[in-house]
Amino acid sequence: MAKANKTIFVCQSCGATSPRWQGKCPSCSEWNTLTEESDAAGPPGTGLMRRGASSGRVITLEGLRGSTQEAPRFSTGLAELDRVTGGGIVPGSALLIGGEPGIGKSTLLLQLTASLARAGKRTVYFSGEEAAAQVRLRAVRLGLDDAPVALACETSLAHILATLEAGPPPDLIVVDSIQTLWAEAIEAAPGTVSQVRASAQALIRHAKTAGSALLLVGHVTKDGQIAGPKVIEHMVDTVLYFEGDRGHAYRILRAVKNRFGATDEIGVFEMASYGLREISNPSELFLGDRDASSPGAAVFAGVEGTRPILVEIQALVAPSSLGTPRRAVVGWDTARLSMLLAVLEARAGLSFAGKDVYLNVAGGLRINEPAADLAAAAALVSSLSGVPIPRDRVHFGEVSLSGAINATPLMGPRLKEAQKLGFREALVPAQGELDAAGLKLRTMRLSHLRELADEAPSCD
Ligand code: TYD
Ligand code: MG
Repeated sequence: MAKANKTIFVCQSCGATSPRWQGKCPSCSEWNTLTEESDAAGPPGTGLMRRGASSGRVITLEGLRGSTQEAPRFSTGLAELDRVTGGGIVPGSALLIGGEPGIGKSTLLLQLTASLARAGKRTVYFSGEEAAAQVRLRAVRLGLDDAPVALACETSLAHILATLEAGPPPDLIVVDSIQTLWAEAIEAAPGTVSQVRASAQALIRHAKTAGSALLLVGHVTKDGQIAGPKVIEHMVDTVLYFEGDRGHAYRILRAVKNRFGATDEIGVFEMASYGLREISNPSELFLGDRDASSPGAAVFAGVEGTRPILVEIQALVAPSSLGTPRRAVVGWDTARLSMLLAVLEARAGLSFAGKDVYLNVAGGLRINEPAADLAAAAALVSSLSGVPIPRDRVHFGEVSLSGAINATPLMGPRLKEAQKLGFREALVPAQGELDAAGLKLRTMRLSHLRELADEAPSCD
């Protein structure tokens, strides 16, 4: 006998199911995330399949060597977006773009669809969040209202699929956002895990058969994950995050998963009054206001993906009135700062006791590279001693717990970028091939952090 429709409780954070309500999800330990949903729809598509399920058919198995050619990509017309996706969008692929509200996802996608439409591609933009009038107003403001983008404001999955099936397949389908979609077959509110999963699955299936690229917008929760469904991150081919500090105009597009390319490239944009402007030379942007020669500012020659980026790291060491001095970091890792302070104290004989320490990466960028250690250390030493670092000096090198400064990858490109931007000297690790042939930059090679504390501030 078929089981009657049962209710289950689904965690909106991790997607785990439970037969009864609980305050805390037993799987991911989040509180208050379980909501009641009907089991009819069940996990991945089972509800739709159960009804018509019959005997299976024999599938022809194939070898790895086939006649499939490398998927042709099409350029998006936005060089920064092409860079992040690994050279353009692959037809039939599904992309998910996440980001906080107001960061500029809708703006980016409108610019993308308009750019493609102007280049003769068929693009359809489904907006579930804004009314047509709002999207049109934005298009007018961005000067894109003449682009032949097909626009619809719709949240019903069935209507969207029917519309897509009725016409010739578009080259790009944008759905803004997946959380607003609503699949009738599923008895849960829009935005819940089962709704999002079912909608994403149906759209991806359509896109793959029709050969259209699909771009889904996903909201992020307060801790920065794409809301609820980690599950959709598994379903799509590419996951991009659009991030940035709302106080700054800079926006960074980062790939965290890409089946068709590398995930270490970033795209840099600036939010201007006429939309997002591509920044092809981000170094100029992250160097901060370099006019004042106050202590505590060191330039880090970093690399994001294959592209060198120069960033200013600022430190402030100030007497503390607190029993436990404050250590605060923006754009870097707190644990890394604690480690660096401990190494400076233990290996270079500096004392930060009774001092508040603040570290900031200019421009709202987040640095993950260990190579930033030396620049951060130089900024800390400079702020502590009150001696400014020469304005035309860059730094890179990883600091180990022993205080040794280790070689970092891509030293040549870092130096070349620094020279291109007018820097004249560089503090670099003593180890490793610099690959600096033909560079006029003066390099000072350090093997231990002690040398930085001893001579760096006074050398010129
Ligand atoms: P939006 O694309 O709506 O963000 P999201 O879809 O990620 O929620 O962009 C929102 C912000 O961007 C909004 O607060 C205003 C700002 N903005 C500009 O500064 N300039 C512009 O040209 C546009 C269109 C938006
Ligand atoms: Mg939006």
